[in-house]
Amino acid sequence: MSEIKKQILQLRSELDRHNRLYYVDNNPEIGDREYDEMMHLLEQLEREHPEYDDPYSPTRRVGSDITKGFTQEAHIYPMLSLSNTYSIEEVDAWVKRTDDALAGQTTEIIGEMKFDGTGISLIYEHGRLVRAVTRGDGEKGDVVTDNVMTIRSIPLQLSGSGWPDKFEIRGEIVLPWKAFERLNEERAFNEEPLFANPRNAAAGTLKLQNSAEVARRGLDAYLYYMLGEDLPCDNHYDNMMCARSWGFKVSDAMTPLHSIAEIDAYIQRWDTARRELPVATDGLVFKVNSLRQQLNLGFRAKSPRWAIAYKFQAERALTKLRFVSFDVGRMGIITPVANLEPVLLSGTIVKRASLHNEDIIKTLGIHEHDMLYVEKGGEIIPKITGVDTAARESGAMPVQFVTHCPACGAPLIRVEGEAAWVCPDKYNCPPQIIGRIEHFVGRRMMNIDGIGEETAKMLYDRGLLRNIADLYNLKTSDLSGLEGFGQKSAERVVDGVERSKSIPFDRVLFALSIPYVGETTAKKIARSVRTLDRLMAFSRPELEAIDDVGPRIAESIVEYFANESNRDIIARLRHAGVQFELPEEEESEKSDRLAGKTVVISGVFALHSRDQYKEMIERNGGKNSGSISKKTDFVLAGENMGPAKLEKARSLNIPVINEQEFLDMLS
Ligand code: IVH
Repeated sequence: MSEIKKQILQLRSELDRHNRLYYVDNNPEIGDREYDEMMHLLEQLEREHPEYDDPYSPTRRVGSDITKGFTQEAHIYPMLSLSNTYSIEEVDAWVKRTDDALAGQTTEIIGEMKFDGTGISLIYEHGRLVRAVTRGDGEKGDVVTDNVMTIRSIPLQLSGSGWPDKFEIRGEIVLPWKAFERLNEERAFNEEPLFANPRNAAAGTLKLQNSAEVARRGLDAYLYYMLGEDLPCDNHYDNMMCARSWGFKVSDAMTPLHSIAEIDAYIQRWDTARRELPVATDGLVFKVNSLRQQLNLGFRAKSPRWAIAYKFQAERALTKLRFVSFDVGRMGIITPVANLEPVLLSGTIVKRASLHNEDIIKTLGIHEHDMLYVEKGGEIIPKITGVDTAARESGAMPVQFVTHCPACGAPLIRVEGEAAWVCPDKYNCPPQIIGRIEHFVGRRMMNIDGIGEETAKMLYDRGLLRNIADLYNLKTSDLSGLEGFGQKSAERVVDGVERSKSIPFDRVLFALSIPYVGETTAKKIARSVRTLDRLMAFSRPELEAIDDVGPRIAESIVEYFANESNRDIIARLRHAGVQFELPEEEESEKSDRLAGKTVVISGVFALHSRDQYKEMIERNGGKNSGSISKKTDFVLAGENMGPAKLEKARSLNIPVINEQEFLDMLS
């Protein structure tokens, strides 16, 4: 073996070891700097010697921005769920039931945490991670191996010895509290919707198309279940301890318990101690330890008889409803909000909680001044979960939903099939206008700094901003001296407005607040129509021919441009110099050579990036798809196309072409 190869292998195994010490054992031996230096050296050697490439190298943990759809894979053993209990008594009853079923054999129970993330199945062959599959519908899930490979606490190559040639290990992918808070802060800064809890954030992250972004977010994983034909031990606990010795993260809370008294003490201890854990948990799980006994107990339809979950009680408080207020959003949607007597819940004071819509008020049966239960489970946002009807004041009336807009007085309408009441007076209702201004200036739209919620309202009230086009008439002298404005901050706004004139058309289209036209749809429409003039001239059927535009969006666009005050705003924005066209250059590269064709891209390419190929397909009238099916017209394959995909294409008789053939096709 060459010296270089030896050095590369040694660096890889050292880095794997330090990864584990840091991410699994929480016990690093070296500092960040030394680690980074080793990593850089390995990266350099791998660059210089591609012949020693290995997809399992620790340098691969950073992910890539190659996007691709997920393929699906059937689970070898179905992924079941657990039946839930909510009290010590119910757990005790389960222990007695299993004891009886096992005819008095001594049963050892393993207590462990119920992690509140998203389930994952990992397949290892010859000590290497070969596949990671989400729970999906329990029978089959999405293959998310690339994303899972970025999670540093999941070993790509097992250490120690004694692992079976082939086995499966299941666990929970979680986003630790700290990473969750950081992610939401970032999203708030970028004005993106926040994740309600770490579970949603973990599940959302695992399904991202861009594994470099997954790597950045800081997922973690706890393993709790091993399956396979030749497992090392005859009981769950010892198998998990083996897993730990091979490099998996197995929770320290996993403990053998020998009596109901020990189980009860375990529950009592973790009911409070779980608050100190770095990750979200929503309960405990108790499992019969012996695999033979597990086999004897067997399964119910959806869950094993040999395990049970005990769910923690969400923290709950009882407080008085002062009144229900009604917020009007940018799209005119009316949201009822419970205004409460302030109450302390999981460390924060709660004064307001959304009631979401009329149906929820009715289902809960809320009356004026009712005593309401407020809960914060894994949810960050407090939730009204019930009413203490015994405490109801005599003669209290049920809470009535408003019939007219609390801001402008217009009679509300309810769109068929939707739960929300809406104020239809889009163009005169102040909170809707102010909401649209706020949206327009937002970071992902026109990115005009210095106008937040309060300022937008103040400028509206003073008559300086009555719609988004008024922004382009603002002068520093209009602003400086107003509440909260000095010369500098006034200049910042005016500069921001000036700079916004170079924001590309797709973002302008999103900024306009056309109902149902979100960020992605706006991009697709802009790419397809190229200019606002063409969009304004499009009929409903022409709009519906655009990828992802259905009847509802088409209708909404036609309605938007039919409105005179919108057309007036557009004319003023155009006059101010806002971008209403995508740059020309791509125009020449357009064709309809791929019209009606559905193409699947797979593998790694040498001549162009995968994103570039995707755009080429769209520019030439074709459609991209993530998975091969009967509808696929051909597969554009690069290096390393997965064997499963290749096989599928073959079995369906779908042509597979390489990048040169593809480029020839277009030229
Ligand atoms: S064992 C057949 N152990 O909870 C039993 N599940 O509600 C397999 N979960 O789908 C599951 N922590 O995603 C098990 N210590 C733990 C767990 C756990 C969290 C999740 C898992 C499962 C769900 C069931």
